[in-house]
Amino acid sequence: MDLASHRFISYFEPLQAAHLCQIAVLESFAEETLVFDEGEAADFFYLVLAGAVEFSKRIENNKYQAIAIAKPDDFFGELGVLDGEPRSARAVAFGGSTLAKIGRQELIATLELAQGSSVLQMFNFIIKNLRDTTDQYVSQFVHKQKMVLVGEMVSTIIHDFKSPFTGIKLSSEMLKEMHPDEETQEWCELIQLQVQRMLGMAEEVLEFSRGNSTLSKKPINLIQTLQQFEKLNRVYFDAAKVDLVLRVTEVIVEADDNKILRVLQNLVGNAVEAFGGRGGRVEIIVTQSEEWAEISIYDNGPGIPSSIKDKLFEPFVTYGKRTGTGLGTAIAKSIVDAHKGKITYESDNEKGTTFYIRLPINIVESEQI
Ligand SMILES: Nc1ncnc2c1ncn2[C@@H]1O[C@H](COP(=O)(O)OP(=O)(O)OP(=O)(O)O)[C@@H](O)[C@H]1O
Ligand SMILES: [Mg+2]
Repeated sequence: MDLASHRFISYFEPLQAAHLCQIAVLESFAEETLVFDEGEAADFFYLVLAGAVEFSKRIENNKYQAIAIAKPDDFFGELGVLDGEPRSARAVAFGGSTLAKIGRQELIATLELAQGSSVLQMFNFIIKNLRDTTDQYVSQFVHKQKMVLVGEMVSTIIHDFKSPFTGIKLSSEMLKEMHPDEETQEWCELIQLQVQRMLGMAEEVLEFSRGNSTLSKKPINLIQTLQQFEKLNRVYFDAAKVDLVLRVTEVIVEADDNKILRVLQNLVGNAVEAFGGRGGRVEIIVTQSEEWAEISIYDNGPGIPSSIKDKLFEPFVTYGKRTGTGLGTAIAKSIVDAHKGKITYESDNEKGTTFYIRLPINIVESEQI
């Protein structure tokens, strides 16, 4: 947009508007350039003409929390300019931004001569911005508090579960010793595996709530991971009348096996829950391209409710479940992201739902030399 038609300029009488256009300096910013940093002196006031500017506050160890975005026709930087305090956030331009900047003294001089109605319009916009930023900040804060709460709950659960889990493990080991037949051995191993998984799951929720998902990657064959998944869930699927079909060929990826199992568990678990006891069909297909291994998980259930479609992967988004926490898909996404992969989905109430997980294939060639 051009400067003369910017919202801020339109607040002023024609003569003052022309003066502002004259003293404003246009500046273009390359992608991801710093406009100003938190704590810097506030020398300029900015009008956005093209692109966008993101504001963020430093929270800890060079991590930043985004708090707002300014788009064309918005203005920013007025608070420090008006009260003389240092910048309270950093501003980074992206999307090929063009900004018009006006020096502090010049802006104050213009405002001193401006009509009350011009100043009032400017303040209306500033107040609206402050409200939006506060709302966003509060919802981020609430989200963080929820995470802390989940973390505390899970720590308690893990702690309290440890002794009954040890009991189950010891009992199944005794059973194994007392009954050396193959079938008992197999069932007891399954019991032990499941107990191990329960502990693993609780620990993963804990990691997720703390925001530090650590991977222990190694080359894995997806065919084995999926067979393991099927074995662990056979009893569960039979009870829920779920028909699981695997269509997998040998595909090796660098990944954390347990975490991939978690992704499958969360997504297939959702499909099973969506069948609501009526049973259904889940199909897992693995395909491979040069760069990616793709796991698609299809179910012929009722589809994802449209009211949550846009925010499905956000934590605490749940629908139609009495005991849903809304963390299943958020954890799945955090794991896929940690693998530098991609997760997407398609869903409608006639065809059902398909999740697509892409994992990069990085075969470590140096090991073969
Ligand atoms: N395959 C699916 N078919 C139909 N609805 C689905 C499917 N997958 C997810 N959903 C919907 O998306 C919501 C969010 O799923 P998510 O796994 O993130 O949380 P949840 O299952 O509600 O709780 P949690 O997984 O923490 O126990 C579910 O409540 C459900 O309504
Ligand atoms: Mg779930």
